[in-house]
Amino acid sequence: MNIVLGITGGIAAYKAPDLVRRLRERGAEVQIVMTASAEEFVTATALQAVSGRAIRSNLWDKEAEAAMSHIELARWADVVLVAPATAEVMARIVSGAAPDLLTTICLATEAPIALAPAMNHVMWSNPATQANKAVLEERGIHILGPATGSQACGETGAGRMLEPDTIAATVCGLSVGKGEGLLEGRTVVVTAGPTREPIDPVRYITNRSSGKMGYAIARAAAAQGANVVLISGPVNLPAPPGMQVRMVRTAQEMFDTTHDQIAAADIFIAAAAVVDYRPTSAKQQKIKKDNETASIELVRCPDILASVAALDAAPFTVGFAAETEKVEDYARSKLEKKKLDMIVANQVGDDRGFDRDDNAVSVLWKNGKQEFPTRAKADLARDLIELVAKHFYAARGADAQPKLTVISGND
Ligand code: C5P
Repeated sequence: MNIVLGITGGIAAYKAPDLVRRLRERGAEVQIVMTASAEEFVTATALQAVSGRAIRSNLWDKEAEAAMSHIELARWADVVLVAPATAEVMARIVSGAAPDLLTTICLATEAPIALAPAMNHVMWSNPATQANKAVLEERGIHILGPATGSQACGETGAGRMLEPDTIAATVCGLSVGKGEGLLEGRTVVVTAGPTREPIDPVRYITNRSSGKMGYAIARAAAAQGANVVLISGPVNLPAPPGMQVRMVRTAQEMFDTTHDQIAAADIFIAAAAVVDYRPTSAKQQKIKKDNETASIELVRCPDILASVAALDAAPFTVGFAAETEKVEDYARSKLEKKKLDMIVANQVGDDRGFDRDDNAVSVLWKNGKQEFPTRAKADLARDLIELVAKHFYAARGADAQPKLTVISGND
């Protein structure tokens, strides 16, 4: 994984060498880009020693630009991380101004961007900074922290940079890196997250799905070169770059949007936790608590996955089965009943599966299965996509194979 690490001028920059070490321990290549004010807090010599690469800081450095231009650096990155991120750099990124190398890379990259803010707590709570944070998040930029505690200025509050190990762990989960192009030219439609079924204007039925698994799968498919359409229920996750994202609320909206997109799909992966039953009719006005008991009549939501698998020209179809018991039995019966090509079975409940950053699953298909023990959802998603691609090409035959250069040793 290639990380451009931007270091800006805050006292927390003294933690940068430790952050570089933590990122490299996780197997990342780190290219540091410092701003001029960062050099007041930490030396380029120390950072070059820990990163093993020459430090970049000047947009107008002809020699460095000739070796790898700012645009090449922006493309090289799987993630751009700015840590520490000052109030100033947040404001610049919001405005789109690019007076130096780091802000130019932020403007030119298609990779996920993560900022770890670090500043005095009054600067952090200033409405200008909070407004900038909201805009950055709305644009899909990840804001990591800040933590609350004692600050270098002697005061206490929110504004401390997160610990380097926490930043490294989060950032290494943001990108699955560039794949080998296994799904180049293929279209993959992914559903993710929960649905939300209205009871009245202020209440709804939903479930604990966070959307993390589906989003990780969409990213992993995009990393393998696929055109990805991510159809997502309401989640607290930024829209991943490099794909079409369609936000929906109800199961019926997810059903309609999926069927609008499905004709172009080679592969359909249903990772959404679609609500099973919705209120027969949502009330127009808020329900009053006049009675001791109340009941809501429910009706089955349409089964999106089964409806796609039943199409005459169905894409390669992959379902998920979240179960609290008899996981494999239930999953295999769903595989058969819904006529799927594959199903990913996972145990949920007791703090497993939902709203976590890791997961363990078994993947089942007609005459086989493969276990994937607990690992980060980003890693699991990469492995699942490789397995799906393998079975997709096996099912579709040689015509569907990606163009591969075969180097044969003995003929
Ligand atoms: O039947 P069950 O809900 O357990 O099946 C889970 C699988 O079916 C998941 O892949 C889920 O995304 C999909 N599903 C669906 N539409 C529904 C219910 C489930 O696409 N209404």
